[in-house]
Amino acid sequence: MSEQLKQILIEKFKRHNARVAILGMGYVGLPLAVVFAEAGFSVTGIDPDARKIELLNKGTSYIPDVTTETVAKLVKAGKLKATTDFSVLKDMDAVSICVPTPLRKTGDPDMSFIISAIEQLARYMHKGMVVVLESSTYPGTTREVLLPKLGEEKGLKVGEDWFLAFSPERVDPGREDFTTLNTPKVAGGITAACSEVTAAWYGAAIQKVHMVSTAEAAEMAKLLENTFRMINIGLVNELAIPSTGAQGWHVRADGRGRVGGDRGRRHQALWLHEVHAGAGAGGALHPD
Ligand SMILES: NC(=O)c1ccc[n+]([C@@H]2O[C@H](COP(=O)([O-])OP(=O)(O)OC[C@H]3O[C@@H](n4cnc5c(N)ncnc54)[C@H](O)[C@@H]3O)[C@@H](O)[C@H]2O)c1
Repeated sequence: MSEQLKQILIEKFKRHNARVAILGMGYVGLPLAVVFAEAGFSVTGIDPDARKIELLNKGTSYIPDVTTETVAKLVKAGKLKATTDFSVLKDMDAVSICVPTPLRKTGDPDMSFIISAIEQLARYMHKGMVVVLESSTYPGTTREVLLPKLGEEKGLKVGEDWFLAFSPERVDPGREDFTTLNTPKVAGGITAACSEVTAAWYGAAIQKVHMVSTAEAAEMAKLLENTFRMINIGLVNELAIPSTGAQGWHVRADGRGRVGGDRGRRHQALWLHEVHAGAGAGGALHPD
């Protein structure tokens, strides 16, 4: 029976006729909803913010990375709709959670949005559902927080009755060369069956999906990537001195392992990853 549930779900993803819900229609959730809708899935965005829901249903975007033209086209085609009503989850096959995890003053992530989203979702959990957490969080969250609330407390066996994975959002907002569609998607399931179902779902819409061994490995990959970025941008910002001329920043490192001086002169140096100076390391999950 469990093998059958998995195969039914995978088949729906192959045929692009699974019903997909996105919890949290912000900077991460809306572009993801658009990618799934453009791949042909029927997508419902769920968000308690009634203003965003009204704008979406009118075909208007409020996110710079998504055009109003795109939203309007998908809404008109019936591929994308939005609601504040969580009860639609009872009819969904697949749910991505893209709610905020801002840092508290103490430096740890505020988990209240994840908790409230999964409390809502738990009311409508049913067999044959796949849930993927996208919010940035600490390694262990998917297994320690989502698994008990969505599975064990509901009497649903993960990897058999339903499927659970973590897949971090890695998009760099504002970039045109790497978007939600072509940024390689890292994902890891709680069981091998969870990974298989997640790969089938995300792989049906996103150009490259890279499955890792476990949900924890995917969570750790995100933490490592954010830490790497923060240390490197912090380092380059320490070195950067505003130029007196029109050159912008005086010091920068480039992707070919060279450090550039003023006016584009570049010198061989130790291996360096391309990092540009900016207003701060930034990001919701980075301390200031
Ligand atoms: N924005 C980025 O560039 C970026 C990049 C990588 C990772 N992330 C991570 O992705 C997650 C989402 O970030 P974002 O920038 O999209 O945040 P956001 O604030 O733009 O959007 C989050 C949305 O979730 C909604 N929400 C709040 N509680 C909810 C609930 N219980 N159920 C459903 N929706 C709810 C909010 O109303 C809001 O519309 C965060 O964990 C963030 O750290 C963001």
